[in-house]
Amino acid sequence: MLQTRLTREYGLEVPFISAGMAFVGMPALVAAVSNAGGMGTLGAALVPPDGLRGLIRMIRSMTTRPFAISFITQFTEAAHIDVCLEEQVPVVSFFWNNPPEAFISRLRAAGVKVWMQVSSLKEAREAVRCGVDAVIVQGKEAGGHNRSTGTTLTLVPAVVDAIAPVPVIAAGGIADGRGVVAALSLGAEAVWVGTRLVASQEAYAHDEYKQSIVAATASDTVNTTIFGPEWPHQPMRVIRNRVVNVWSKRESDVVYTPEADESIGQTYLGGQPVALPKFSAILPTPDTTGDFEEMCLPAGEGAGLVK
Ligand SMILES: Cc1cc2nc3c(=O)[nH]c(=O)nc-3n(C[C@H](O)[C@H](O)[C@H](O)COP(=O)(O)O)c2cc1C
Repeated sequence: MLQTRLTREYGLEVPFISAGMAFVGMPALVAAVSNAGGMGTLGAALVPPDGLRGLIRMIRSMTTRPFAISFITQFTEAAHIDVCLEEQVPVVSFFWNNPPEAFISRLRAAGVKVWMQVSSLKEAREAVRCGVDAVIVQGKEAGGHNRSTGTTLTLVPAVVDAIAPVPVIAAGGIADGRGVVAALSLGAEAVWVGTRLVASQEAYAHDEYKQSIVAATASDTVNTTIFGPEWPHQPMRVIRNRVVNVWSKRESDVVYTPEADESIGQTYLGGQPVALPKFSAILPTPDTTGDFEEMCLPAGEGAGLVK
């Protein structure tokens, strides 16, 4: 088995962690990765605290191995942290902005490990100052929300050097064993893999979305700010479908109009039907119907390696 400092510390058999992915990184994927000897991560970004508790219990019914909960900081409330503490989750990770100090100190005091995904050397240093246990470094190649300042190949070793001995986890463009070896050789202690796992059976993604990742080449993704009445104009790496081809070169013309006649489809969130407005950043799951050429399909350049 391939061991690193991180696998030993967290009791993993392989230095492989599934990326936190809202909507698609649900209990089946989390448990599959953890049961395979890595660490699965629940994409909890938009899940309310009560829903989170149910998902954590579902994970626990499928695996006894360690797993992580991933939050987008600006959508995280103290009640989410309460649930993580009450349910004694092993790892909590944050993305985008630094979490309030109280979140980190409460989690760490209870023995929960805290990770932060970062996009630059500066953010990595800030995360370490906040007291996190490990830093996930996201390169520009990565799928999903992405404001990275460098590629995985350049940013990971720069952060490794800057924050040693704090462990670094590499994210972005890692889609097969060669990528894992490359990341470890850059000094990472593990990999954090998203795109490759969207196209897995256990991911809660619509088949059309999975197929579009399988069909894509490395140049079929682009970073754009067109998506997101739900979280406006944040940069995301996505597959170039019709809506991206039409709008990504004129991002400043994008106006979010929630009117029903602009709806691109429908999905279910928390069991309730929800109409998807044009430019919606809600990802297509098996519950989604509508025009997939108009939907947000996050994927990184590693899509070109997914068969
Ligand atoms: C479908 C999808 C959804 C994502 N959702 C989130 C999220 O909710 N929270 C988060 O921290 N990162 C999210 N990300 C980014 C990942 O954490 C990670 O940086 C990225 O997947 C790694 O690069 P890769 O896609 O090339 O493997 C998402 C990525 C994808 C592909």
